[in-house]
Amino acid sequence: MKSFSEEISLGLSKKNKKISSKWFYDFHGSKLFEKITKLEEYYPTRTERKILKENKIEIAKKIGKEAVIIEPGAGDTKKIAIFLNCLKKPKKYIPLDISEDYITKISQNFKKKFPKVAITPKGYDFSSNNKPPFKIKSSENIIIFFPGSTIGNFETNEAVKFLKVLKSKFKAKKIIIGVDLVKDIPTLISAYDDKKGVTAEFNKNILQRINNELGGDINLNLYKHLVIYNTKKKRIEMRLKSRKNNNIKINGSKYLIRKNEEIHTENSHKYTIKSFRNIVNKAGWKIKKTWVDDKKLFSIHFLNLDT
Ligand code: AVI
Repeated sequence: MKSFSEEISLGLSKKNKKISSKWFYDFHGSKLFEKITKLEEYYPTRTERKILKENKIEIAKKIGKEAVIIEPGAGDTKKIAIFLNCLKKPKKYIPLDISEDYITKISQNFKKKFPKVAITPKGYDFSSNNKPPFKIKSSENIIIFFPGSTIGNFETNEAVKFLKVLKSKFKAKKIIIGVDLVKDIPTLISAYDDKKGVTAEFNKNILQRINNELGGDINLNLYKHLVIYNTKKKRIEMRLKSRKNNNIKINGSKYLIRKNEEIHTENSHKYTIKSFRNIVNKAGWKIKKTWVDDKKLFSIHFLNLDT
């Protein structure tokens, strides 16, 4: 697994410069993402919450009793709170997040709200090949809760691999997963290019992290937040476009970023029910139930093993 420093030096040395979106999420980046989820233009969070609220009893039934719920990339843990009280004797809740500081802090509030549910937060990069940071008993009712359409941030082949790993490494029996749907382009673009500029700040937080953590000297004002919809790949792409030629120094190494050159920072794939079913089946899972909102903006799926 490459460190932040290794990934940055590799990503900025390429002809087509690229940094993985997972590096957005230090404590500050996680806070900015929390802010994004409250923006008027960013429809996924509120739509998904509405679907969860309206179907919480049915969802809880599908999860079943004595569940061990693992939430990779848990963030603010607000979504599980919607149906947690409907579950029958939940055994344990394990939120995982790449930012250990953030998830530890968030879990303190969670404990106050749900004192009866055992919670064990862990700092863990779920896109890594690292072993799970806790013991797994394969006989347990292990559920993966993966809301927010985070699956969309993976390339499709990575998404299949991830769903397979949930089975092989985490011994998951069931998955509840949120998936953003293909829709009109203006709605998609404005969700990632909001008027207040919060998503722009979130995007540039990657550069800020390079400055803070790797001793970089990047002038953030030289970069423009760029959002495009790639119609062929059905995904939003976020980039940082340089307004000028600029030399940057990071830990003694120099990189030239040319005028109009772009650093690709994120993909956010959008699916149809059919295209999502395709990757689910490829990974050996089966969609047993799908819930969508009236406007067909967002979907939540219940998967179990294709046995
Ligand atoms: C976390 N992830 C699902 C978000 C998304 O919509 O792809 C990240 C995000 N990037 C910009 N705005 C939100």
